[in-house]
Amino acid sequence: MKIEGRVALVTGASGGIGAATALALARAGASLVVLVARTESALEAVAERVEAAGGRARVAPCDLSDPTAIGELASALEAEAIQPQILVNNAGAGRWLAVDETPPEELLPMMQAPALAAFWVTRAFLPSMLSAGHGHILCVNSPAALVNFPGATGYSMSRWALRGFTEGLRADVAGTGVEVCHFVVGKVSSPYFDNNPGSEDRVPALSKLIGTLTPEQTADRIVASIRGGRRWVYTPLMLRLFHIQNHFFPWSVRWMLYASGWKRS
Ligand SMILES: NC(=O)c1ccc[n+]([C@@H]2O[C@H](COP(=O)([O-])OP(=O)(O)OC[C@H]3O[C@@H](n4cnc5c(N)ncnc54)[C@H](OP(=O)(O)O)[C@@H]3O)[C@@H](O)[C@H]2O)c1
Repeated sequence: MKIEGRVALVTGASGGIGAATALALARAGASLVVLVARTESALEAVAERVEAAGGRARVAPCDLSDPTAIGELASALEAEAIQPQILVNNAGAGRWLAVDETPPEELLPMMQAPALAAFWVTRAFLPSMLSAGHGHILCVNSPAALVNFPGATGYSMSRWALRGFTEGLRADVAGTGVEVCHFVVGKVSSPYFDNNPGSEDRVPALSKLIGTLTPEQTADRIVASIRGGRRWVYTPLMLRLFHIQNHFFPWSVRWMLYASGWKRS
């Protein structure tokens, strides 16, 4: 997929992986990067960095838990003749909590972003990609969409839902020229763990073997995945190896996760 001259829309662009991805797409030649998240001041700061790097940015504050607001955003962009051909579904949150620790007011937002937000945002921007006969939709996901971590049930549930959405979307658009990428990344040194307190303490020790990427390294891999038309990406390499191990010997990966992860006191 060509990035040069294309319009990209990145959700969760106010910080972490999303902000780094917006910058990387601008550096890769995107003609405009639409920056979506709730915090307008943080989006403005990212837009300044995109423009300082020679790109163009359009700040688009939106709470992605609200499908009506997403529809209004899509209409506003359409009125400005902005039709993204690259969509990065990245916005997401949620503390790592066991079932009995999870209040309803925390479960719903973590289902809304990432999983439902990816659905609604894609639904809003897919028609113009289908009309053009090309487009690329990449969903940023966690290894919790492949195996469940102890003490993070709502988080895992929302990431499995995002994985289900991504695979369903791939089936929906097969043969249309629109490509779909399920991009699964191990631990990233973004502000995620500050924004979702207590979660970092529950990351299984096994993840030390996989390694940690910076948001910038993650963004470079996202750009390479879009450019290369990749459909499934598991990064870094050790995560891919664990994914293969999980395919053939799921009990062995479960054993390692349970032995190295959160334990009920
Ligand atoms: N960090 C990791 O180790 C890691 C690993 C694998 C996958 N991931 C996934 O990658 C995604 C991005 O995470 P990150 O590490 O970059 O975390 P982050 O720094 O906390 O960024 C999350 C982004 O999502 C936005 N967001 C959250 N809820 C939103 C909502 N309702 N509407 C609009 N925007 C919303 C936030 O912006 P506002 O608060 O301004 O709205 C922010 O821009 C998440 O889905 C996460 O699960 C992270």
